[in-house]
Formats: sequence, structure tokens, C-alpha cells
Amino acid sequence: MVLSKAQLVIIGRTRTDAFLPDRAANVRIACTIPGMSDHYKGVTLWFTGLSQSGKTTTAQLVAQKLRARGVDRLETLDGDIVRLGISRGLGFSREDRDENIRRVTLVAQLLTRNDVVTIVSAISPYREARDMARAMIGNFAEIHTKASLETCAARDTKGLYAKAMAGDLLEFTGVNDPYEAPENPELVLDTEHGTADENADRVLAWMELHGFLAPQLATAEA
Ligand code: ADX
Repeated sequence: MVLSKAQLVIIGRTRTDAFLPDRAANVRIACTIPGMSDHYKGVTLWFTGLSQSGKTTTAQLVAQKLRARGVDRLETLDGDIVRLGISRGLGFSREDRDENIRRVTLVAQLLTRNDVVTIVSAISPYREARDMARAMIGNFAEIHTKASLETCAARDTKGLYAKAMAGDLLEFTGVNDPYEAPENPELVLDTEHGTADENADRVLAWMELHGFLAPQLATAEA
């Protein structure tokens, strides 16, 4: 395949430095995406799953791997953090969860259409709300971090499963509140048997396959 200059991007720590031979350590070369001036484009990677199913862990690793690939327009919207900010004061009734997801969707929509890779991690237990997010955002991947309730409850780093199982916490997803698993997600990540590293690599591979991230052609060490 013959590539014109315009189809190649060199990704270094700073792009200007990357062109200077004496500072060309760790220069990586990637194709641009057809019709795009960059090697990636806006998409929302929407992680859904039970509490403690590995949404945040996988999302953070994906973000780290994307940054290492020169994806510098990248934002994460994590349920726990969102609920301290734009969704402060919302609870866990269906109505409040829907409102939370509606707000996250609006922000993700704005970011995605400005070519930001947007990584959402939220339980988002209701199919209808996730379908709405998909319809509004457009460039969208629903990613189910799948682990059994028993495994998630055993992880219980926040002690919430123990509380819910003892009846001291109501409306807790998977215990006394529903979780509607995706029926047709772009990816199902087995977070019980697969490693976070393998799962994150699957997300990047999906992005490459669907034209949201150009494949990396080469890595050159000076
Ligand atoms: S969502 O259902 O509206 O998508 P979100 O992901 O924002 O939920 O928030 C989930 C986080 O809130 C969990 O990681 C957990 O730490 C905390 N939490 C507190 N109470 C509950 C509850 N009743 N159900 C689920 N998560 C809860």
C-alpha cells in the first residue's frame, strides 16, 4: 500500500519534536482515518455492568492505552465522579438513574461530536436509557463488563453488597434492584476470567476495526 504524506501521522511526545532526528526516540507511525486529518475520531465507549464488575478499572486502562497511542482528545465520565458533580443529589430510584444517564448522555454527545474519545462508566441498568444514549450519541459502543453477581459481591471494596444483602441498603443493583444486561452490545468483556489488559486491548481492537482508531503501523526507537 502506498501512502501519501497526508495519510501518515507521527506520534511523539510533542509532534514538533518528533520530526527532529536527534529527538526521535519512541516515534510511532500510524495511518490517518480516511477522510480525517487525524488518526482517531470521536466515539463514546459506554461501559455498563454491575457495581464492582470492572467498568472503571477497564475504562482507566483503555484511557491509558489510548493516550500512549497519541489520542489526546479524551475524556472520562465515571459514575462515582459524575454523581459528585453534574448529578449531585440524585439517588438510585429509576427516575433518578434515568436522569443521571440523561445528563451523562448530553455531555458525551457534545464531546463525541467534537471528536473527543469519551469513556463512560456507569451501571446504567436500564436498557431503554442506554438505547437512548446510543441514539443520541451516534458513534457509540456499548461495552458490557460481565461478571457474576457472586464475584462482584465478593470483591465488595466499598462494602455496599454486604449492606444491601443485610437489608441496610435499598435499591442496590443486582441485589434488590434490577440490572438489564445488554442484548446486543458491541463488546462483552469477561472480567471474571479475562485480565484487564486483554479486555482493554479488545476495546482498542474494536476501535481499529470500526475506523475510530487507525492501526499503528510501526514503532521506531532512535
Ligand atoms: S447508575 O445506575 O445511575 O448508572 P452510577 O454508575 O451513576 O449508577 O453509580 C453507581 C455507584 O454508586 C456505585 O459504584 C456505588 O458506588 C454507588 N451506589 C450507592 N448506592 C447505590 C445503589 N443503590 N445502587 C447502585 N450503586 C450505588
